Amino acid sequence: MGGQADTPTGPDFTQGVPLADIPAEGVLAGHVGEDGVILARVGGEITALSSRCTHYGGPLGEGLRVGDTVRCPWHHACFSLKTGEALGAPAIDPLDRFKVETRGDRVFVRRKDKPADQPFRTVKGKHPKRMVIVGGGAAGFAAAEMARRLGYKGELTMISADADAPYDRPNLSKDYLAGSAPEEWMPLRGEDFYRRNHIDLRLNTRVASLDAAGRRVTLDNGKSILFDALLLATGAEPIMLQAPQPTPNSFTLRSFADCRALIDKAKGSKKAVVVGASFIGLEVAGALRARGLEVDVVAPEAVPMQKALGPELGGFVKSLHEAKGVRFHLGRSVSGFHDGRVTLDDNSALDADMVIMGIGVRPRVELARAAGLTVDGGVYVDDRLRTSAAGIWAAGDIAAFPDARTGERIRIEHWVVAERQGQVAAANMLGADVRYDATPFFWSAHWGEEIRYSGHASAWDKAEIDGSIEGRDAEVRYLKDGQVQAIATLGRDRRNLECAAKWENGGGC
Ligand SMILES: Cc1cc2nc3c(=O)[nH]c(=O)nc-3n(C[C@H](O)[C@H](O)[C@H](O)COP(=O)(O)OP(=O)(O)OC[C@H]3O[C@@H](n4cnc5c(N)ncnc54)[C@H](O)[C@@H]3O)c2cc1C
Ligand code: FES
Repeated sequence: MGGQADTPTGPDFTQGVPLADIPAEGVLAGHVGEDGVILARVGGEITALSSRCTHYGGPLGEGLRVGDTVRCPWHHACFSLKTGEALGAPAIDPLDRFKVETRGDRVFVRRKDKPADQPFRTVKGKHPKRMVIVGGGAAGFAAAEMARRLGYKGELTMISADADAPYDRPNLSKDYLAGSAPEEWMPLRGEDFYRRNHIDLRLNTRVASLDAAGRRVTLDNGKSILFDALLLATGAEPIMLQAPQPTPNSFTLRSFADCRALIDKAKGSKKAVVVGASFIGLEVAGALRARGLEVDVVAPEAVPMQKALGPELGGFVKSLHEAKGVRFHLGRSVSGFHDGRVTLDDNSALDADMVIMGIGVRPRVELARAAGLTVDGGVYVDDRLRTSAAGIWAAGDIAAFPDARTGERIRIEHWVVAERQGQVAAANMLGADVRYDATPFFWSAHWGEEIRYSGHASAWDKAEIDGSIEGRDAEVRYLKDGQVQAIATLGRDRRNLECAAKWENGGGC
């Protein structure tokens, strides 16, 4: 996940390319020395930008142009082709710009240009004097960063129960847990970012209560902070089995601290049992196996992730793990934990130096509920991410929002959804009037294979498969009443992007 390693291909733009080769609708990918560059026609001009996505280095030349933006094929970040600004998460940094010279009917690109003037965009109007963000995760960070990017100059306080400044949470169950991601990949921004942007980041601090009418939050240290605009982005809590009672060598994984504890324990362990065959459970199984532990997975379903992905794709993910030595005990549940052993409901037992629960999460909605905000399957928000209380917005795993496509009220636990909601909420807290209408998207990685999923299909009655799952070239369409609700792809990144974009434009896929 460290970035695109491939040497850029395509025409050498230092030698010039015919103007006619630059498409009106797409982009032309080539290179300037070692740098990958895309050329695009934008409003009668030619622009040249780095082709390397600033998230994990995805190849933007293989992405999708939508209007004057380009979307990354890996995790759907969206960049302005005019300025290079990262308009939509998960990328945050802008793309490098290159200087374009047009001579006759040829276009030359030889060197980088200076960055575009910032702020790229501002939200004008009456900004709140004091903005408070509760939560230092995906949504909270994205909101703080976007508020400053949109020209917010007022007080900005971010309160996080986490011990660490905002970090790349999805990596906690992937390369970082497997031991193949260096520490410097993890923070979303260095410490100086918060100082330079005057973001008062309070770590290890919990908001204990919220007075919605008095516009005040009270911290666990007894101090209070007043706000004019508040974002609730408290995320979700992993579920720990209560019965049977787990032993002290049982873990859940949500925070960086959880991950460090897991890694410490894994270093002295030989055998791990993962309870639950969820996305995170299986990623953890893979990461611990990559560390050399023997790993058993226990789950009640017949096929991992069958409910979300269907038996074919779920079975494929299972086979990837089995090929690496992960053992599955499916159709089984845990009947007891004893020191060093996990017993199953068929009276079999598994040795376990450590047990990891991957049985789902619960949204942290207590603060909102206690403050009298409407909570119904999550913190109620409208399509502008406003809660039921004036001056308070909510985003991320806690937010129950109207799906722009179906109107159905949904709550989603995906990184990109949380970040994008944080970005939309920030704009609206400054007085913009932006609707949250992005197609939900997530990815999950298993032994180098990435599944990408767009849309939302809480209940589907039919799955259509096109292509070969084993051949890593397939799409699975999830239908309800004959309508495609969501699509999962393997090796068909562009198709996934196209569906996400079509749904956003009111079309079908
Ligand atoms: C290990 C792991 C791997 C994942 N992998 C993927 C993936 O591959 N793809 C994907 O799409 N999604 C993935 N997810 C899900 C994704 O990380 C979440 O959907 C996303 O982080 C939700 O963002 P959020 O801002 O709502 O909550 P979080 O990122 O959880 O942030 C919540 C923040 O609120 C703070 N907080 C909570 N209560 C309080 C309080 N009372 N006072 C102050 N602060 C408080 C927390 O400390 C935390 O900082 C993964 C999640 C985990 C745990
Ligand atoms: S690499 Fe481009 S969005 Fe992740």
